[in-house]
Amino acid sequence: MRFHCIFFFLVSGIYVPWLLSTAWLASGRSGIDENIKSTGTGFQEVFGWSQVDFTFQSEATRQNAIRSGDYIPESNLPLGMEVYKGRIFITLPRWKKGIPVTLATVSLSERSRSPLLKPYPSWAWHMPGNCHGLTSVFRVAVDECGRLWVADSGAVNIVTGVKHVCTPQILVFDLNTDRLLWRYYIPKEQLPQGSLFTNIAVDVITCDRTFVYVSDVFRYGLIVYDFKQDKSWRVENSYFFPDPLQTKMQLDGLTFRWNDGIFGLALSPVRHGTRYLYFHPLSSQREFMVDTKVLHNETSAKNEPDMFKIVGEPRMNCKGQASGSAMDRNGVLFYNLINQNAVGCWNSYIGEHSPRTHGIVDQNNITLSFPNDLKVDHEPNQGLWVLSNRLHKYLYGKLDPNDINFRILSTFVSNAVRGTPCEEGYLLPPRKPKQCPDY
Ligand SMILES: *[C@@H]1O[C@H](CO)[C@@H](O)[C@H](O)[C@H]1NC(C)=O
Ligand SMILES: *[C@@H]1O[C@H](CO)[C@@H](O)[C@H](O)[C@H]1NC(C)=O
Repeated sequence: MRFHCIFFFLVSGIYVPWLLSTAWLASGRSGIDENIKSTGTGFQEVFGWSQVDFTFQSEATRQNAIRSGDYIPESNLPLGMEVYKGRIFITLPRWKKGIPVTLATVSLSERSRSPLLKPYPSWAWHMPGNCHGLTSVFRVAVDECGRLWVADSGAVNIVTGVKHVCTPQILVFDLNTDRLLWRYYIPKEQLPQGSLFTNIAVDVITCDRTFVYVSDVFRYGLIVYDFKQDKSWRVENSYFFPDPLQTKMQLDGLTFRWNDGIFGLALSPVRHGTRYLYFHPLSSQREFMVDTKVLHNETSAKNEPDMFKIVGEPRMNCKGQASGSAMDRNGVLFYNLINQNAVGCWNSYIGEHSPRTHGIVDQNNITLSFPNDLKVDHEPNQGLWVLSNRLHKYLYGKLDPNDINFRILSTFVSNAVRGTPCEEGYLLPPRKPKQCPDY
């Protein structure tokens, strides 16, 4: 049953009741129909895999790993990505048993569509039960100083509930030597039971004075790590919580509910000496922001909740939940629309944050099925990168081993925003009245 809703639509200063017809509702249901689509060429596939395999020392080692259950091909799911100077970094969280490697690289010069993944920085870092190595990584981030920052959740077999077998940690590697530069264990008092650290953003003021933000998606917190002082604090805020009305996901006939909090983290360019952290809970259509200066100060980060701001209106009226996000040098925020198999964008310099100011970079039910991670690279001509992985099928259904399930896709940001409200100088279309979603 569908409700007819009466809306009040502001026309030159007076409110006019607006009766929505059923036909209008039906045509404009999903967020995507009302958003301006990019006139660019969309994403190109860089790599695609049905299942992932690794550069084992020998075929005998590989067969042993399969026999012992250390490597169960269908358990392995690429989730996070980064890119730096000809190399792609891929994370594989230990959701299930049989995942031999949690962080790997692939060279961009690989000719194969489905290259083998090489453990990063080496096999020795991926020994099960070794808390001095890497345990279970969701996401990584490359900074302007040529360093790779790794958020290791320390949690394994996550499909059956979060159990920390090792203390969650932040690690940083030098990408010129692939050596560990520093390691920081997150203190116990910043780890409520059930915490899951799934995203990381790196705020470089100088290579020495660097702050790292790590989001706790299940216990709704943000760890701020001060690299120079080698200490961290945990920030909590009601804007880190999921919106209970946006927890239902429906994809490919699978329906599931996620109470996922703070997830997407994107740093703005520095403008007039100020840099913002844009963030959003996954189960939400809202975007929020905070001046990074507030986060840098432990007292203000913890005690001044009003310094965290809501950014305008919800990004979409329906199915606007977003996972990974990133901002380019022009202040354009890109984000993955997990419930629409699409990538969206918003130009932060446009001011208004509402459905009509958001564009669709690309939409594809096959190649963008569950767009999971998204990054903007550090090249002069910036590229936009997306990893899609059909996570819903992996968790609640079954991945078809004969289909391409995981993809790395890319395009240039200039191509991504073409013809959308994210492009500089775009004139906004007139406002549409809000719809009434049927929950
Ligand atoms: C941190 O914030 C507190 C509270 O707003 C303020 O009193 C203090 O001076 C700040 N510290 C620094 C180093 O800026
Ligand atoms: C993609 O999937 C959605 C939801 O199943 C459907 O409404 C839409 O028409 C599909 N788009 C294309 C281009 O097939």
